[in-house]
Amino acid sequence: ATTLGASAAQSGRYFGTAISGGKLNDSAYTTIANREFNMITAENEMKLDATEPNQGQFNYTNGDRIANWASTNGKRLRGHTLAWHSQQPGWMQNMSGTALRNAMLNHVTQVATHYRGKVYAWDVVNEAFADGGSGARRDSNLQRTGNDWIEAAFRAARAADSGAKLCYNDYNTDDPGHAKTQAVISMVRDFKARGVPIDCVGLQAHFNSGNPVPSNFQTTISTLAGLGVDVQITELDIQGSGSDQANKYRTVVNACLAVARCTGITVWGVRDSDSWRASDTPLLFDGNGNKKAAYTSTLDAL
Ligand code: XIL
Repeated sequence: ATTLGASAAQSGRYFGTAISGGKLNDSAYTTIANREFNMITAENEMKLDATEPNQGQFNYTNGDRIANWASTNGKRLRGHTLAWHSQQPGWMQNMSGTALRNAMLNHVTQVATHYRGKVYAWDVVNEAFADGGSGARRDSNLQRTGNDWIEAAFRAARAADSGAKLCYNDYNTDDPGHAKTQAVISMVRDFKARGVPIDCVGLQAHFNSGNPVPSNFQTTISTLAGLGVDVQITELDIQGSGSDQANKYRTVVNACLAVARCTGITVWGVRDSDSWRASDTPLLFDGNGNKKAAYTSTLDAL
């Protein structure tokens, strides 16, 4: 096949991108996005600050614009994200205790209900583990409401939308030798053993010189899959250029395709100039929308 989405579909997978609502009027952008990808994630528009700017007042204008673009163009939608320490609205940042727990659960319920039937999978909880060697939870206002906040969020999401796949999503969880990766694996094992409703794990896969593509990335994917969850690569971008970057993309695609339950790959933006870290030129299209070497190696590997 001649596009990323169609090539991924040959093995029953998808190939997605993050979409920024502010660029839906840019026809060069939407032409590439519509042609190449068959799954979309809103880059910012479904986050907590965007969807509940004032407590109890929900704003779906920008999220709906992306959801409608997805459905109009026949793309599946990954919801991102219901509970996260970052990009919280101001009113939530200073909350704690039971009030915060209830506000978080209400947010999960309301947003998952609004998008019921439109979202294929939700990143229910994002980035809940600490970096470094501790394997501990990240300290946050949500974590301080009690260690069970993650499972509470998953149960609320399931109650609100029984049809969406419910995922845990994180970064620096690619190398099986990292404590953070093992901590996520342990959480998934525990959730499965206790019947907490989790269906999938998203590996963000933001790679750069400090966090290179691990040679044993496939081991992480297959270990998670072996626990009975699907795995997706959810925010892929790789610092670099030329054949070196192309080889790294190939390695990532091959690692996913080697595991049956690795069901899709999403890159975190369309062109390098659209990237949240544009100076790393981490994506598959250059700023002019031309296909890079990394595009070709990715397409060939799919
Ligand atoms: C980033 C967006 O790309 C930026 O536009 C925004 O300013 C900050 O967030 N992990 C995530 C994503 O889960 O939501 C983040 O997206 C990148 C890191």
